[in-house]
Amino acid sequence: MKHTADDQRWRPRSHFTAPQNWMNDPCGLIYFGNRYHLYYQHNPHKPDWGSIHWGHAVSDDLFSWKDAPLAIGVDDEGGLAFTGSAMEPAAVAGDYAPADMRDGIVALYTCALPVGSDQDTTQRQCLATSSDGYVWEPGEMVIDNPGIRDFRDPKVGWHAESRSWFMVLAAQDRLHLYTSFDLRAWNLTDTFGQDWDAPEGIWECPDLLQLPVAGDDGRTDEDGRTEWVLTFHVEHFSDPSAGAYYVVGRFDGTSFVPTSSRVRPVDRGHDFYAAQSWANLPAEQQRQVWIAWASHPAYSRRLPTRSWVGAMTLPRELRLVQEGESLLLSQLPAREWETLRAEPRVATGGTAVERAATTATTFTVADADASDIVVPGNTCEIVLEFGTAGTVAITRTDGQLTVDRSGCDMGAFSTIVELRRAVDIPRRSVGEARTRVVLDGCVLECFLDDGTTAYTDLVFPTAPPSRIRVTSPASAAAVPSVAPAVYRMRATMGAGRGPNGST
Ligand code: FRU
Repeated sequence: MKHTADDQRWRPRSHFTAPQNWMNDPCGLIYFGNRYHLYYQHNPHKPDWGSIHWGHAVSDDLFSWKDAPLAIGVDDEGGLAFTGSAMEPAAVAGDYAPADMRDGIVALYTCALPVGSDQDTTQRQCLATSSDGYVWEPGEMVIDNPGIRDFRDPKVGWHAESRSWFMVLAAQDRLHLYTSFDLRAWNLTDTFGQDWDAPEGIWECPDLLQLPVAGDDGRTDEDGRTEWVLTFHVEHFSDPSAGAYYVVGRFDGTSFVPTSSRVRPVDRGHDFYAAQSWANLPAEQQRQVWIAWASHPAYSRRLPTRSWVGAMTLPRELRLVQEGESLLLSQLPAREWETLRAEPRVATGGTAVERAATTATTFTVADADASDIVVPGNTCEIVLEFGTAGTVAITRTDGQLTVDRSGCDMGAFSTIVELRRAVDIPRRSVGEARTRVVLDGCVLECFLDDGTTAYTDLVFPTAPPSRIRVTSPASAAAVPSVAPAVYRMRATMGAGRGPNGST
């Protein structure tokens, strides 16, 4: 497979990618100064992991991102700026904000000091401040390394009831919880996870957040019920099933106790990692939103692109939904996504649509990239055709989702990934069954029903998308609101990011 500027054709047009070179985790996500800030793990010098800085982009709507200068760089001792989080102390803690942090924002992140090889580091937690989100004063160490090799990714929040800050931190194969009254002096108050039933590997990128619980109607409960959810990621270089996990539990500011019966996967595909939620979203939005790196540590350094490497998932709105005794995580594209839809190509008919049968149970759509496909019902087949490269098939039966990339020539990438996976779909007793598939460059995301199944895979077909074939018992001739539809999505990323440099 060629590594040339040709790799622009896999570059998503409305998922975030760095302007050039390497990108991994989102970090420091915050809404501040009336805009969303997205920082990310970035090597500005090479299309490979290495000299890790915080890259930076800003947006008014979570989809149109403008690049900003590098935010936090490698320090004087060569310490890399690993993942961390940001908060605006005055906005969340009012008078309890530390006196010298009442203006602007604060980041807690891991400074990884080089020891030997490029991956051998001493990891400790540092604090950086910024008055505007663009220019950062980095570097003050707040938690030294206690002798744990993998000790990183602080996610910090404000616990209103106990009027203290908390930090959840990945420590090898478990999580540490610290509390603080001033964001500088931190006390270890809890360690957990070591006896949980999760795949083996290094734990990374935790988050601890309060999510709204939807009522029986599937919408957010009127009484404003929320529950705490802990998320974490397991880095495993050979196990394709390792990834993102969540646990629902009780959190009193100093300890976390699971209430869910087991650890559940967040996303059933291969390429959802290092998710982090946005801090400080305006209260009137009444939502939590997160975004993840669409990749897997096992092969993220062997992707077939060079001019840019790494993409984010869609920003996703999060909530919990009750199913029997369990609370399940629900993820759906952030609501702004739907405003980017052009006219549905099936419902309107028109030249882009060819109907293969008068009953309209099967239809095909030409010009297939940047699409949002919505198919009602609990069975369907959605086949993404990539000309001479073949197909990727998404099949939903009653109870199972299968994503099959084995029919698609993805060059060397086909040889390093698990090509076909079938997963069980949690049965929902409320709401309507629906399969939603988003294809945008190399990112393929599926959202089922009310978001209780999400599935993300990368695709690098050797030929561009040509057609979408949908087979569904639901009739396209039915009322538009329940007919299968294929929406073309408007590109939101800046110049140089679209195919052939278009926007
Ligand atoms: C996750 C991760 C984090 C670390 C960062 C370094 O992908 O390994 O644990 O902070 O990447 O870039």
